[in-house]
Amino acid sequence: MESEVAFIHDFDSSLICDYFGRLERQGPGSRESTILALSFIDNLSDESEIADFACGTGGQTITIAQNTRGTITGLDIFPKFIEKFNENMNNLGLRNRVKGIVGSMDNLPFRSKQFDVIWSEGAIANIGFQNGLDYWKGFLKNDGYIALTYESWFTDERPAEIEKFWVDAVPAISTVETNISIMKKSGYSFVAAFALPETCWIDTYFSPQKAMQKEFMKDNAGNKAAEALVENMEYEAELYEKYKQYYGYVFYIGKKL
Ligand SMILES: C[S@@+](CC[C@H](N)C(=O)[O-])C[C@H]1O[C@@H](n2cnc3c(N)ncnc32)[C@H](O)[C@@H]1O
Repeated sequence: MESEVAFIHDFDSSLICDYFGRLERQGPGSRESTILALSFIDNLSDESEIADFACGTGGQTITIAQNTRGTITGLDIFPKFIEKFNENMNNLGLRNRVKGIVGSMDNLPFRSKQFDVIWSEGAIANIGFQNGLDYWKGFLKNDGYIALTYESWFTDERPAEIEKFWVDAVPAISTVETNISIMKKSGYSFVAAFALPETCWIDTYFSPQKAMQKEFMKDNAGNKAAEALVENMEYEAELYEKYKQYYGYVFYIGKKL
């Protein structure tokens, strides 16, 4: 598998939506870590406008909505995720404050300085960390906050196998220190950074996948791409077990200067 490893963006979008749409979260994260990140953000009111870019089906958006006031706009590139997102918000009685729209986080349909907070878990790498920080800043009010998770190295050096995997997937992957300095250069003051604990990977990401993979394969019997996707995700889980001391997602919270 190692030499044939594919990346999530190599798979067909309907297959990705079928697979990840079965999960509450489409990336590592947890209610606790979202709440911890929120604890660094002050001055929110009924009037506040929050954006959640690459919201997926809304796992973290539900937590944000239940722990803030004001309105939230979730944005994701996949219509199927947004359909589920809006269904989830309806079911939880949150639809009056939370809406999901289809769009791309590198071509935003919002006003300049619209938001008090821009949130984004597990997705900024798709448009580049620095590029995303620079572009999104224009949509934040002065003194607005950014809170996002991003793949990061925990050490200055690491074994070749894991180095290759992540450099191929996220070419600009860097250490926490470097990422904080990029954030500052981009025009944010540094508020906080913390690594997502192992439970965010195991309990909300890899274990739920394991539990649904059999059903997914049954529904996609004979589909080679579906088999490859499952193998790919199994390989990612193995790598995490083997090399988790070298990398992870880090929550970065900053305030627009
Ligand atoms: C790893 S998932 C994270 C989803 C969710 N935030 C979570 O943590 O559970 C990455 C998300 O980014 C979305 N995405 C990828 N490229 C995007 C883009 N250019 N604009 C908006 N969403 C994008 C995917 O559809 C997917 O929902």
